[in-house]
Amino acid sequence: MMIASMQGVVKRYGSNIVLDYVDLAIDEGEIIGLLGPNGAGKTTLIQTLTGMIPFEKGQVTLFGDVKAPFSNKNKEKIGLVTQEITIFEELTAKENLQFFAGVYGLKGEEKKNSVQEALEFVGLSDRANKMPKKFSGGMKRRLNIACALTHRPRFIIMDEPTVGIDPQSRNYILEAVKKLREEGTTILYTTHYMEEVQAIASRVVIMDQGQIIKEGTVDELIKTIQHEEKVKIDVTDAGQIPLNKLESVTGVKQVNVDGNQIMIISEANSGNLDRILSLIKAHAGVLGIQADKPNLEDVFLTLTGKQLRDKVGEE
Ligand SMILES: Nc1ncnc2c1ncn2[C@@H]1O[C@H](COP(=O)(O)OP(=O)(O)OP(=O)(O)O)[C@@H](O)[C@H]1O
Ligand SMILES: [Mg+2]
Repeated sequence: MMIASMQGVVKRYGSNIVLDYVDLAIDEGEIIGLLGPNGAGKTTLIQTLTGMIPFEKGQVTLFGDVKAPFSNKNKEKIGLVTQEITIFEELTAKENLQFFAGVYGLKGEEKKNSVQEALEFVGLSDRANKMPKKFSGGMKRRLNIACALTHRPRFIIMDEPTVGIDPQSRNYILEAVKKLREEGTTILYTTHYMEEVQAIASRVVIMDQGQIIKEGTVDELIKTIQHEEKVKIDVTDAGQIPLNKLESVTGVKQVNVDGNQIMIISEANSGNLDRILSLIKAHAGVLGIQADKPNLEDVFLTLTGKQLRDKVGEE
């Protein structure tokens, strides 16, 4: 079943085209990792998809509703974790959850249970009666996520939930996403961290300058840039190995030696590793093998010529 979609959506702020004919279809059960640098239009895409802001052209659907404003019934199927943390600092964690559960019309026993479960889900049960003003950034974020879950939404949207938080909170969040995924929840998740997307996304959507420039599974995207394979082999005595023989193995393009490490670049899918290893083993011992696989960061770099995020000023 289709959960949400955008067709030819254009959104402008003044002369700035922030969404430039965006097409996107999200099916039930998908975990979509939306990747893009600062200002790519990720938050604007989310705001458009959820009917929070108007747009100039195109069409958006949400649970079959064709046009914003969407029905309340359908809006309530969404759990939105916005980029800015929205919780009440002067209410306890539990009171925050009770408030949001109340907004979604939960009452009595159901409300009590869902608040309890949401606290457990993000690992904050032991802080239920504490005020978030004393929480770390990561704990505030976890509470913020819990607030979006009490009504058990079918579609969860998280806008950069892991920026600038401690590794423990980050793990809690990623584990929570995995549990939600197992329960069949559909998730749209934006991030600058490609490791997260590689760990949890069933499909990756890459955005740059208001356009979706590529989408597919992590493997599909990596295959599009995989022209060669690189393998590094640590050996006992590189000097004993006849390099010209290595160079003539089928598929091998280049052989470099650095101390006792041999680096071999081959054409993609050469399947020549066995041959290379037996050649080396005839002359020296093999201590270790490392294959350098391209990752999503390389895909992004190849597509846009840019790093996914500025390395400066971030962890
Ligand atoms: N309310 C607004 N008024 C004017 N311009 C806006 C507004 N919101 C966003 N923009 C502009 O739209 C572009 C896309 O912004 P958006 O916040 O969607 O990017 P993003 O991909 O979410 O970036 P980030 O990773 O920094 O969160 C930017 O150029 C931004 O300056
Ligand atoms: Mg944003």
